[in-house]
Amino acid sequence: MTEFKLKKGFLIGVASAATQIEGGELEHSWQDWYRRGKIKDNSNPARANDHYARYQQDTLLMKEMGIEIYRLGIEWARIEPQKGVFDGAVIQRYCDEIKQLQLQGIKVLVTLHHFTNPLWFENIGAFSKKENISYFIKYIEVVLKAFGPEVAEYITINEPNVYTTFGYFFGEWPPGEKSLTKTIKVLSILAAAHLQAYLKIHEIRKEMGFSDTKVSFANHLRVFIPKDSKKLKDRFFTKLLAKLFQQDIAVAMMKAKFPWYMKNILKLPQGIYCDFIALNYYTRSCVSGMSDGVKEKVTVNDLGWEVYPPGIIQCAQQLYDICQLPIYITENGTCDNHDSFRARYIYEHLKEISESSLPLARYYHWCFCDNFEWLEGESARFGIVHIDYDNQKRTIKNSGRFFSEIIANKEVTTSMYDKYVKDQEYPRND
Ligand code: BGC
Repeated sequence: MTEFKLKKGFLIGVASAATQIEGGELEHSWQDWYRRGKIKDNSNPARANDHYARYQQDTLLMKEMGIEIYRLGIEWARIEPQKGVFDGAVIQRYCDEIKQLQLQGIKVLVTLHHFTNPLWFENIGAFSKKENISYFIKYIEVVLKAFGPEVAEYITINEPNVYTTFGYFFGEWPPGEKSLTKTIKVLSILAAAHLQAYLKIHEIRKEMGFSDTKVSFANHLRVFIPKDSKKLKDRFFTKLLAKLFQQDIAVAMMKAKFPWYMKNILKLPQGIYCDFIALNYYTRSCVSGMSDGVKEKVTVNDLGWEVYPPGIIQCAQQLYDICQLPIYITENGTCDNHDSFRARYIYEHLKEISESSLPLARYYHWCFCDNFEWLEGESARFGIVHIDYDNQKRTIKNSGRFFSEIIANKEVTTSMYDKYVKDQEYPRND
């Protein structure tokens, strides 16, 4: 059977992050990383999609494409360019964007922290010092009060495990450290920052008289499998890696339940510290000894990541086992530079969702327009809308048209399948 229907009330939209789309020469950790020559293709985040200036055009394009929900980031470094100095005009600009989205009937979910720190915050140690949590909370207070009734839904922190693993363990992202001890410390501090932010957001909105608040953090989960399932060593490290990379941090941030090697810095009682499950899912990893890689002879995307659609449900189940809440896929997408298999990717992941009995309620595709893909710069295209970076021209891709049809119909029919998916094939790594 090629066709499927999505459940009634299931919402579909797109996600993005401020640094990846806004552009502008700002004093933040990724601008600094660029200045240090660390972006592989040397592209400058100051260019990106120029979305900060073009947000009206982008909102209208979303509307045209039928987008129902939008997960957008706001840039802390822009809002608070210097410690304690908040820029009212910037906050107003975000309020305008949010109002415009809502006027077009697009529901917003705001991410408060998506990998990037203001440089002043990075320079005082960011989340490697527990006393710095208070700066994050202050920023949230200012934003929450300004957004008032307009925004009820927040993601506090995006992918704490990816932020720490790349920034503090592999040293490939800012601040470029390579220390296991530091990685664990930062994880504990990020967990504390989320827990406190969760309570603070609820407290502020309650004081303002609103009861529709929804807060979570975005988990990045992968499926881990042993390279050789007959080898005890591979099986052992597969379990260990999954536990250390994603399971323990999810439990700590969802429930304030900490494993022995992490600290409950704020000594918060165990409880439920999220109102929905937020899952970012991309791929499966294959573990051999202590390192992970990509399974051999499988379908892959243009960055060599395995395409493994059943994993979206396996990871959702893993989080649902921790906490029984509605599940939002807050990111799912693929690097397909020529848009030659993205429609198939979307089709196969949404089909998995449609067949699952889990309470999956929303799907945010990563991402709307091609954008600044961190270390890969402008060279890795994940968008359903093509960007010509030289003239900032936006063009809806074939996958974007397919996505719009899915939203309009809440199903994929055989004729849609034949039109968009049938002839698409993924690359392979054989
Ligand atoms: C991040 C995005 C990123 C995407 C694709 C996710 O882990 O949240 O910012 O662009 O992966 O690499």
